[in-house]
Order: sequence, then C-alpha cells, then structure tokens
Amino acid sequence: MCGIMGYLGPKAATPILLDGLRRLEYRGYDSAGIAVHDGTSLSVAKAEGKLDRLVGQLDVQPLVGSYGIGHTRWATHGPPSDRNAHPHTNPDGEVAVVHNGIIENFTALKEELIAKGAAFASDTDTEVIAHLVAEEYDGDLLEAVRRAVRRAEGAYALVAMSKEEPGRIVAVRMISPLVVGVGDGEMFLASDIPAVLHHTRSFAVIDNGEMVDLSPDGWHIETLDGTAVERDLLEVDWDAEQAERGGYPHFMLKEIFEQPAAATETLSGRITEDGTVDLDGVDWPEGLVENLDRIWITACGTAFHAGLVGKEIFERLLRVPTEAAYAHEMRYRDPIITGTTMTLAISQSGETADTLAAANLAKERGSRLLALTNVVGSTLSRDADDVLFTRAGPEISVASTKAYLTMLVGEYLLALALGERRGAFDASDHAELVEALRHLPVKIEEALERDAEVAEVADRFIGHEDVYFIGRGLDNAVAMEGSLKMKEISYIHSEAMPAGELKHGTLALVTEGTPVVVVLTQSDVYDKTVSAIQEVKARGAFVVAVAFEDDGEVAKHADEVLRIPRVPDILSPVVSIVPLQLLAYHVASARGHDIDQPRNLAKSVTVE
Ligand code: AGP
Repeated sequence: MCGIMGYLGPKAATPILLDGLRRLEYRGYDSAGIAVHDGTSLSVAKAEGKLDRLVGQLDVQPLVGSYGIGHTRWATHGPPSDRNAHPHTNPDGEVAVVHNGIIENFTALKEELIAKGAAFASDTDTEVIAHLVAEEYDGDLLEAVRRAVRRAEGAYALVAMSKEEPGRIVAVRMISPLVVGVGDGEMFLASDIPAVLHHTRSFAVIDNGEMVDLSPDGWHIETLDGTAVERDLLEVDWDAEQAERGGYPHFMLKEIFEQPAAATETLSGRITEDGTVDLDGVDWPEGLVENLDRIWITACGTAFHAGLVGKEIFERLLRVPTEAAYAHEMRYRDPIITGTTMTLAISQSGETADTLAAANLAKERGSRLLALTNVVGSTLSRDADDVLFTRAGPEISVASTKAYLTMLVGEYLLALALGERRGAFDASDHAELVEALRHLPVKIEEALERDAEVAEVADRFIGHEDVYFIGRGLDNAVAMEGSLKMKEISYIHSEAMPAGELKHGTLALVTEGTPVVVVLTQSDVYDKTVSAIQEVKARGAFVVAVAFEDDGEVAKHADEVLRIPRVPDILSPVVSIVPLQLLAYHVASARGHDIDQPRNLAKSVTVE
C-alpha cells in the first residue's frame, strides 16, 4: 500500500503534507517522510515509526518551503527503518522520490546501477527510481521521469521533484491510485481523495499509464508516450465521515471493493516472465521441498478457512498429505511433526495468540515454518523461517475480506512454487494455471460488478434467524467462510457444512422458507451437490446458488443464482467468495448493525 502526497501552492508545504499523511496512515504507518523545496535547496526529513515521530523531528528542525512531497510507508522491500523510509534521493540529493507499489525488476536495475558505480543507502526498490530519474535528467523532470518509468516494471505510483526545477512536481500512475486535487491557486497530489478533501472538492483522477506535471502555471496530464489528455474535474460532495472511508458507507465495503487491487499486489513481481513463481521472503533449503512428506496448515477464523482452501489445493496439486488445523486445537494436540514437515501459519495480523503458539510448537518440533501474513514486522513474520506477505494493505473492518482473498492468492502462488520444485506439473497445466492466476484481479472486478444483484437477493434473508451454507470440497471451504461472514456481522445464526453432511442431522432444521446458500462450482461433484439442493428444496428451503456465469443447469434447481465469472474450477474460491461477502454485508446493513465493529469481537485476538 503506502500513502503518497504532494503540494504546490502559496502556503507552507510541511503542515499540509503532514496533515495529508495523517489521513493516509490507514495505508501504512511504519515510517514517514517529506521532501520540501524552498526555492534554492531540496531538504528531506524522515523517521521510522508512526507519523508523530516525524512531526516531533520537524518541530525541532522545520523544513520550510511551499512545495513538497510526502509518504507514509507500509514496508514491502526492506524492514521499517529510518533508512528505508521515503522520500529517497539519488546520492547527490538532486532528485527526491516517493513511491507506492512495487518495482518488479528493481534487482536487475540495481545491479545495473551498481555496476556503473552507484551507491545505495536503503534496501528499497524506490531508491532505484531516484537513481534512474537522476541518470536520465537533462533539465526536464517530466522527460527524466518518463524515461525512468519506461525502464521500471511493476504496479506503482510515484511522485518526483528535482532540486534544479523549483516549483515543479511530476507524478505517474502505473495501476496504484493517484489523484490531483485542484484548489484556488494551489494543487495537491494524493493516493486518495479523502487525504485532501478539506482543501478542495475538485479532483482530476489520474488513469493508469498517465503522467501529471504540476507547476505554478497549472497542471496537465499526458500519457507515457506524450499524448496530452483532457480530464474533466470530478466534484466530490462526500461528508467528513464518508471521506475517511473513501466514500463507502463502511470500511468492510471499501475493503471488499479493494480486492482486485489487493490481489494485483499479491501477485505483483511473483510470476516471472517465463511463467515460473518467484517468492520474495521464501528461501527453502535444498532438499526440503523435494522430501516434504506432510504439510500442516494452522490458523483461526477466516484465516483457517483460507487454510481449508490451501489443504484442498496442496493435496490436489502436490499430492502431499496436508492437514488444516485450528491453531487453538493444534497447540494442545500432539501433532505428528518431523524434519520433513512444513507448517504454514496463516494470519492477517500475525499477532493471533493461538496461531503464534501452534506455529512455534511446530517449529520446536523441527518443522520448517512458513508464515502467510499481511503485516510486515508482525510477530509471526519474525518467528517464521520464511514469510509470504499478502500485501492486502491495512484491513480496518473486523470482518476480514481482502485479507482472506489475498491469503488464497498467496496459497496458489505457494502451491505453484512448491509444485515447480517437486516437478509436480505437466507444462501445459502449469501454464494454464499461471495464466488464469494472472487474470484473477479482472475476474474479481467482474464479480463485484454484480453487487446490485446480490443486494436484491439479500433482502430475502433479512427476517430470518437461521441460514445454512453448503458445498463440496473447495466449495465447502468457501461456504464455511461465507457463513462466518454472515453470522459475525448480521447476527443471524449461520452454519456451514459439506453438502453431503446435511442429511445426517441438520436437514431436521430445514423448514418452509429456510434460506440455504449453495456454492456450486466444482464440476466433478456438481451432480452430487445438486442432489443436496433437491433434499432441501423438498423441505421447502429457499435456495440461493453461487455458480459460474456459463452454468446453464443451476437455474433449474435454485430459486436465485448469484453468478460469478468463469475461472478454472480450482481457482473458484477467489471469485465465489465475493458474492458471499457482499451478501453478508447487505443483510447486516439492512438489519442496521455496526458492520465494521461487530459486537463482542476484536480485529486481532492476542489472548488465548
Ligand atoms: C473474521 O472476519 C475475523 N476477523 C477472524 O475470524 C479472524 O480471521 C481471526 O481472528 C484470525 O485473525 P488473524 O488472521 O489476524 O490471525
């Protein structure tokens, strides 16, 4: 994630930048910094930790000037520290850059620059950009940034300024969000609208692949190839509370809609040009993967449900016996763990007490410990031998959505990486899976476009006190998560189970009108799940199915169908969860609940 800011106008830049960064802290807060130009020199101040540390530093040593750039960081390359905080400059301090996202080819670029004698002061990918812009600079910042960006691959947004050109700020959007706020004689750059909404209500939203050039004469947008772009200003009328949530009524909804971007971040830089997987933070010792005889997955709540998907896909793709265990159970079991076992501990926060205990138990018993977590610097990420960060960005809503979805994407990457090492794939199957994985963000976007249809179906759930979710295999794993979402925010009693299990007891609870949600995406067990639909229909259930858009059968059996875009069966959880998140959200919203902070729950459960 990370938040970026820029200001150009008649006022003092520092307080405006700091205020904007405070509003962007939800995007990351492990360090912060600003660069300000006073007409003669370009000065930088930065500090590890929350923004207040930087503020304290600036109280003692103020930076004066009326234009500048700022950054609040969510670490991806290099741990949180003063030296890794943005802005980054080239060694002579002529160019300052702040950046959000990932420069995928930064290692190659860094090696190239080092070979030419460059010295680096940080572990970040961003510093490479500062070097590139300085190398390309010949008196025109816009052209220097354009040439630098042509050399940098990845999904990112960046803002640059040069000591040589007072009054000019240049920015680029390559997927990561960026807006220009247009005020009276002043201009702002920000990662989102709320950061500067109290200064102006007029915005130019920068599109992917566009550059923006700010100077005292005004602003203009052009494409990377230099074609000028006309952009109508967007007039924003959100109130203050809406603004904090980016215009959404709740963080949960905002986070659900952030999922295409979050999945893009999870994948970014991890699939190489030849289609193999390259996982930063994972360095398995020789022989471990080849000799693996068991995988344990341990987690709680939503993260455990991601683990259920992991179990299915690891067993299917790798043929390695995999057990998914609740961490609070595993820690008091006597799990069979040896030196040829790998343990995958999954946790959004990386601080869940039970998950930490189970993970460390596995490690003590000789297992290699791999963490799949969202929070850089979390206890789990420090305890583990290897870490795969989900890069979902801060998740504020207690009900987890984008963290879950990025955990799934992380697990597919892991399955591919492990399978490649074990020679588990046929080349064409592998290529097909990688291709489909690359397209997932677009598929998630398409699933979100059906939000209004989900909202209509949600109306049918509002007055009920019991709901059931069923599915088989991967669909059962998704049903479990859909059910948890429903109960935790709507307070409707909800149970999930494998479709075949219904008739062994729960069917007794199904009566006229009982809502039953069926996840129906797995072709190998499709007919079997349809039989379960018949069983509940025969007892009067109101059946809602989640099925692929090209499924011509399902409407004959279900009362309502929530359609999802077609993906290979094995990847279906990443899209089939989307309507279930929206369903829970709309039901809870109609019932008038505190969606972001449901009763009795906490975002991070750090007690046993
Ligand atoms: C679900 O929406 C929850 N917030 C909860 O189940 C959560 O997934 C669980 O407490 C585990 O948290 P973690 O991922 O931070 O370890």
